[in-house]
Amino acid sequence: MDISDYRREYMSQGLSRKDLKADPVDQFELWFRQADEAGIVDANAMSLATAGRDASPSIRTVLLKLFDYRGFVFFTNYGSRKAHQIDENARVAILFPWLGLNRQVKIEGVAERVATHESLRYFSTRPRGSQLGAWCSNQSEVISSRQFLEAKLMEMKQKFMEGEVPLPSFWGGYRIVPDLIEFWQGRENRLHDRFQYRKQSDGSWSVERLAP
Ligand SMILES: Cc1cc2nc3c(=O)[nH]c(=O)nc-3n(C[C@H](O)[C@H](O)[C@H](O)COP(=O)(O)O)c2cc1C
Repeated sequence: MDISDYRREYMSQGLSRKDLKADPVDQFELWFRQADEAGIVDANAMSLATAGRDASPSIRTVLLKLFDYRGFVFFTNYGSRKAHQIDENARVAILFPWLGLNRQVKIEGVAERVATHESLRYFSTRPRGSQLGAWCSNQSEVISSRQFLEAKLMEMKQKFMEGEVPLPSFWGGYRIVPDLIEFWQGRENRLHDRFQYRKQSDGSWSVERLAP
């Protein structure tokens, strides 16, 4: 299969400096809303890149569940491969590929665990099946079979038959505190618009246009 000719023009309205919000989180909120309204599937899905002590990068999809001026929050297993890498090196990058709008947003920053009460607040809103699922999986470990997981689910259903499913101590959120956020808008002839916000030492954000 030859995919070298696989391309399309990005005929989109441009992004100009005067359209940009002063705070990139406000800009993100605007673009997120537009992605949602445009029917982008799983607009909150983001690629999360991490690298541990060995500097070898690894990447996977996770779901953004909260964002505000403090940062961007996803939930996961604190024993997973990504969590071990974050323990070793808290610098991470995330990417939202909103290709239906010819857009991407790239964020770099530092990941920190959210407070237990924040994880609990979110965990308690999850469907019971997802709550039980969190208990069943030592995420990223090698397992023998699918049956192993099914058996574990039966065991957890029995264990937590009554009342609420408690928050596992090994499960919770990370907040990515951003210091760099780039908004990319595809344009004609590959002359795309790129604006990069960079956090300054006084807490304000600078904005620069980057070559596409
Ligand atoms: C659409 C989608 C959403 C996902 N959301 C999450 C998530 O929010 N949290 C999570 O831990 N894993 C999520 N996953 C699974 C991860 O991509 C990954 O397989 C898992 O977290 C283990 O990654 P690791 O071994 O690198 O730690 C999602 C996968 C997909 C395809």
